[in-house]
Amino acid sequence: MLNNLKPQAPDKILALMEEYRADERDQKVDLGVGVYKNAEGETPIMRAVHKAEKQVWENETTKKYAGLAGQPEFHAAMAEMVLGKGYPADSLACLSTVGGTGACRMGFELARMANPGTKIWVSDPTWPNHLSILKFMDQDFTTYRYFDSETRSVDFDAMIEDLKGAKEGDIVLLHGCCHNPTGANLTLEQWGKVADLLQETGAVPMIDLAYQGFGDGLEADAAGTRLIAERLPEVLIAASCSKNFGIYRERTGCLMVLGSEETKKTVQGNLAYLNRQTYSFPPYHGQALVTRVLTDPELRADWEAELEDVRTGMLELRQQLADELRKLSNSDRFDFVAEHRGMFSRLGATPEQVAAMKEGNAIYMVGDSRINIAGLNKNSVPLLARALIDAGV
Ligand code: LMR
Repeated sequence: MLNNLKPQAPDKILALMEEYRADERDQKVDLGVGVYKNAEGETPIMRAVHKAEKQVWENETTKKYAGLAGQPEFHAAMAEMVLGKGYPADSLACLSTVGGTGACRMGFELARMANPGTKIWVSDPTWPNHLSILKFMDQDFTTYRYFDSETRSVDFDAMIEDLKGAKEGDIVLLHGCCHNPTGANLTLEQWGKVADLLQETGAVPMIDLAYQGFGDGLEADAAGTRLIAERLPEVLIAASCSKNFGIYRERTGCLMVLGSEETKKTVQGNLAYLNRQTYSFPPYHGQALVTRVLTDPELRADWEAELEDVRTGMLELRQQLADELRKLSNSDRFDFVAEHRGMFSRLGATPEQVAAMKEGNAIYMVGDSRINIAGLNKNSVPLLARALIDAGV
């Protein structure tokens, strides 16, 4: 039986992580996987999360099963963070998931259960694992144009033109903020136009919100999602806690499904059913940490302050890189780096140029020239800038 299995192509982002680890050169720069790193190249546990962890450890008295759909207090805290105070609790169903990836997967599954003929529209480009999951599910999907590779900004007219083809009951997957892999994002006005179009077509938005707090701030990064949630009758939101709480390995995510007061109970039942059929109970620990951090005023203030430092640190690196490239290229063609938001920017290098920088400079970026800004520090920014120019980007 087992000889029937075919080898699987490794995930490109994760394979790059391994390749970087195996590289023995002293001066190497990892701009691959989307994991935050401080100036020392470390990914520390956030202060408030560490304190919350101690409190959870001291107070936890049992390891018996908890909620099948997750913890209601985690759902409430997440809904408030994503949708704001006064979110419509009566029409919101929530599911705790295995990370943001789990939330995406469960969102796709729910959409298919609700509408077996649904087609899923994803931005071109998008996080490669969106495509990979959809292919694995044998789920019908298509892409809409998103990124203008000349200006390295959103090609909004093309996006709207393509999304006019979405039908009632189709799912339109949008990145809530910090678009992965491009770093180019919609303005609030553009979000408004997307909402108009979705209202016209009857397509259902699904928002992947994996980097709230990494772009323009915790509140600002949720503005597009909140606008969509206010305007559209049905919305799916896949939120991740991996990045903004730095709890990657705890696998903590939340799928929120906004419908009506009438649909809430059935949606909630279907969400719990999905967990049960897939892995039964979701991981508890990360939910407990996030709930504590979000609901304890002292922990929350400290977490927000640290998250803000992370965000502004990345903005400084963006500005430094843009300045350096302006100097070396004697042009403003890399100014987009400072305009982009979040962890990533797609630089516009060819796969050959990306390979040359890996071979020659030990600089690792994803093959489509996506860099993780947080993989840089003040010393490696000039190295990257020099390598880009030398590679002819
Ligand atoms: C990334 O895009 O690098 C992150 O979302 C990590 C992952 O799982 O791919």
